[in-house]
Amino acid sequence: MIKERKNDCQGWIKELHRILCMQGGDDDVSYARNSEGPAMALRLSRPLITEGIRSMELFKGEDSLRIADLGCATGYNTLAAMDCVVDTLRSRYHQDFGYQPEIQAFFSDLPSNDFNSLFRLLPPMILSHNDNDDDHYAEETRDYYAAGVPGSFYYRLFPKGKLHVVLNTGDGVGQGFTGIQQGRAWIEGARKEVLEAYARQSEEDLKAFLQCRKEEMVKGGLLFILMAGRSHPQREDQLGDPDTRAKHPFTSSMDQAWQDLLDEGLIDEETRDKFNIPAYMRSTDEVMEAFNQCNGFDVKKLEFKRIEEHTEEKQQEWISDPVSYGRTKANLVRATLKPIVQAHVGRMLSEELFKRFEKIVSGDEEMLHKTCFYGVIVVRAVRK
Ligand SMILES: C[S@@+](CC[C@H](N)C(=O)[O-])C[C@H]1O[C@@H](n2cnc3c(N)ncnc32)[C@H](O)[C@@H]1O
Repeated sequence: MIKERKNDCQGWIKELHRILCMQGGDDDVSYARNSEGPAMALRLSRPLITEGIRSMELFKGEDSLRIADLGCATGYNTLAAMDCVVDTLRSRYHQDFGYQPEIQAFFSDLPSNDFNSLFRLLPPMILSHNDNDDDHYAEETRDYYAAGVPGSFYYRLFPKGKLHVVLNTGDGVGQGFTGIQQGRAWIEGARKEVLEAYARQSEEDLKAFLQCRKEEMVKGGLLFILMAGRSHPQREDQLGDPDTRAKHPFTSSMDQAWQDLLDEGLIDEETRDKFNIPAYMRSTDEVMEAFNQCNGFDVKKLEFKRIEEHTEEKQQEWISDPVSYGRTKANLVRATLKPIVQAHVGRMLSEELFKRFEKIVSGDEEMLHKTCFYGVIVVRAVRK
C-alpha cells in the first residue's frame, strides 16, 4: 500500500516535471514577454548579488570558474543575472590578481523549458580577454561559455564540488498538492490539512535543494536564492496583505474563472476541484530552519522584501484602459500556468479558462486601483 502510494507520488512528480515550466517562445503569452515581476525582483537583487560576490573569498589560482542559474526559464532575466555575476567576478579577479579566469555558465531548468528560445537570445561570445581589444567593450557580447542543463533542482545536476556560484531566482514553486479542494485553486484560505500538505512538501523540496547544492558546490562557493515568500510566520495567511489579496492571480479571479467553466457546463466539479497551483510562500523562519538542518552553508543574509508589482505610471495607464489590464494579467498567468492548466483540461478548455480570467480581471474596477506587491525572500550563503 505504502509502496503503491510512493509510486503514485513519484509518478505525479515526474509528470509535474514534464509540464511545470514557463510558457516558451517569444510571443505575447510567452514567459519571455511576461516576466516583469521576476525582472523587478532581479533589479532589486542585483546590488545584493554584486555585494555577495564582492565580499566572497576568491579562488586564487583557479583558471576556470563554474556558475549555474537554476530555474533559468527563458527571456533576458537569466542573462542579466548571469552578466551581473560574470562582470563582478571578472573585475574582482582583474583587480586582485591581475588575471581573469575563464567562466562556464550553466543555464538549468526542467527539461520542458524552452532552452532553444533562451539560447537564441545569447549574444555572440568574445574569445579574447585582451583589455586593449575594443570588442571586449562592445555591447551585446558575452564572455563566458554557455551550456544548458535539463533537470529538476531538487536532484543532483552536477558532479561533486564543482560549482563556484549558484543562483536560483524565482523559485517558490514546489511540487504541490494532489488532493481535492472545493472551489479553490490555491492555498490562500484553504483547509488546515491542505495547507499542511503544501508546507510539508515545500520543506522537503527546500531541504532536497540545499542538500544537492551542498554536494555540488566548492567550499567557499556563493549561493544566492530569490524565492517567493511571506513576511510573517502564519502560514495560513500566504499573501499577508488583505488589501491586495484580490489582485493575486492564484486567488479569487482564478477561482471565479474555474467556477464559470463549471457553471457553463464545460467541466465537472471534480475537474475544477482537482486543479491545484503548486506554489507556496515560505517564511524567513522556514527557510532558516532548512539551512540549519542542511548544515552546509554559512547564511550571510536572509531577508524578506516587498516588491511593487508595477510602476505608478503603468497603473494609471491601466486605469484608463481596463481591458489592456485584463489582457496583461491573463498573459502573465498564461505564461506561468498554461502548461499545467493544459495538462489538466486540454488546450481548448485551457484557453476558455484564460479568457474567463481576462474578462473577470478587466471588469473588476476596484482591483485596478489597488497597488499589488510581491513578497520575496533573498538569501545569500557561502558553502562551508
Ligand atoms: C518564475 S520562473 C523564474 C525564471 C527566471 N529565473 C527569472 O527570474 O525570470 C521559475 C523557473 O523555475 C523553474 N522550475 C520550477 N521548478 C523547478 C525544478 N524543480 N527544477 C528546475 N527548475 C524548476 C520553472 O520551470 C521556471 O522556469
